[in-house]
Amino acid sequence: MNRLALYANQLAHHLTITDNRTGKTIEVPISTSRESDFIHATKLGALQHQGQPLRVYDPGYMNTICCTSKISYIDGDKGILEYRGIPIEELAEKSTFVEVAYLLINGELPSKSQLQEWDEKLRKHTFIHTDASQMMKSFRYDAHPMGMLISTLAAISTFHPEVNPALAGEGVYKNKDIVNKQIYRILGSLPTIASNSFRNRIGREHNMPHENMSYVENFLYMLDKLNEKEYKPHPKITRALEVLFILHAEHELNCSTAFVRHLSSSGVDIYTAIAGAAGALYGPKHGGANEAVLRMLEEIGDLKNIPQFIKDVKDRKKLLMGFGHRVYKNYDPRAKIVKQIAYQVFEITGKEPLIEIAIELEKIALSDPYFIQRKLYPNVDFYSGVIYRALGFPTDMFPVLFTIPRVAGWLAHWKEYLNDKENNIVRPRQNYVGPEKRNYVTVEQRKEFPIYLESNKSSRQKRRETATLS
Ligand code: CMC
Repeated sequence: MNRLALYANQLAHHLTITDNRTGKTIEVPISTSRESDFIHATKLGALQHQGQPLRVYDPGYMNTICCTSKISYIDGDKGILEYRGIPIEELAEKSTFVEVAYLLINGELPSKSQLQEWDEKLRKHTFIHTDASQMMKSFRYDAHPMGMLISTLAAISTFHPEVNPALAGEGVYKNKDIVNKQIYRILGSLPTIASNSFRNRIGREHNMPHENMSYVENFLYMLDKLNEKEYKPHPKITRALEVLFILHAEHELNCSTAFVRHLSSSGVDIYTAIAGAAGALYGPKHGGANEAVLRMLEEIGDLKNIPQFIKDVKDRKKLLMGFGHRVYKNYDPRAKIVKQIAYQVFEITGKEPLIEIAIELEKIALSDPYFIQRKLYPNVDFYSGVIYRALGFPTDMFPVLFTIPRVAGWLAHWKEYLNDKENNIVRPRQNYVGPEKRNYVTVEQRKEFPIYLESNKSSRQKRRETATLS
């Protein structure tokens, strides 16, 4: 829609609001979009009362649009997901992760030569600084791979002070070459950082990237190569992981992607922003859900325990992990594809026994009024964990396998954010309900308020507290 048509449309549709505190009436234009119509929250500020503008209260951003984006489209009721307009099902069938990353970040599918150049640039950046590799080796033997990945990404920011806005000046990301370079570096090095975190965990030396393998193949190679002269991952396993990478690459403003924009709005460097977003993804309600699903399936352990588990969920003692979504109120289109991949993987690896529990759980949940009424369907994480398990990944690697591809989406949003004329530092408002102004009271004059100050104690600490101290 051109600007004039948009303006005419805005004039045609508006909200008339009368503030019964003051009797003032305002007309707020309604903007239309493919996803949903909306009003600008700042327009409500015209409704003033006692010198204060009217604001909207929306914890958890349940109904708030905070940016304009062209990257992905979701219709949660119909179960539709498109990257730059292309249905996820087509991309999963026909594309590669590297091509999808190009599409997300640059807006169009690449030509043959553009794809080749892009692929080469990413390959060149698979090597990480030996200091970063050395630093990773200093983590504890049982450090969670996400903890290693997040810390390493943040640490790599210190390797590039010349492109850090805090040091090189705010305008540094106005230079397109510099922006592209950080994209190549981050996307290229992610599989290396991720595989290093895995190698630490299994007590093996880090592998160097292979010079002649695709993005996903090289990742599997770095994870698994031991002393073989030639090591080539199984092509069907490579393709299965490739499709999982495509499915996880982007999902508009989920918790972590919103955080990339949030952090970027402060002007922080992109390495720190990506590390912060990875931190958001790590949580069990977001990218850590696949890990939580596996732990849940293991806890259920047997088909006979499912009815009790479902009862516990309905009694709100537990969550059915891998079910429900803020946006999808239908079957997550990614979950359908993931379920198919599971069987393709089992053909090579053998069946993962937990799949039986997952399928039965889904069957029962989808026919139970509790889940039907709340429109709770399996999301992308419900079956992905079972595949990762069948592929031999330890459970704590699951969120890492989500993070690698999602970085493509994060970088697409970062680039879009940098070019967005409406971008501004994110600074929400609060509903203050604390004490009114009061004076400081000296410690001698204070009355004691009951405040809970206990913290948990180890058995060792309890034993120490029985000792005679002097
Ligand atoms: N198990 C049981 N009940 C649930 C679940 C669940 N997994 N999810 C939502 N509900 C209930 C919830 O208790 C509420 O019930 P009521 O209306 O009676 O209070 C109702 O369904 C609506 O839920 P909500 O909490 O308002 O929904 P939300 O949009 O705030 O939460 C969610 C979305 C993904 C955080 C939530 O569904 C959840 O915690 N799911 C399990 C974790 C999970 O699988 N996360 C992965 C999400 S997909 C990957 C990604 O994008 O990161």
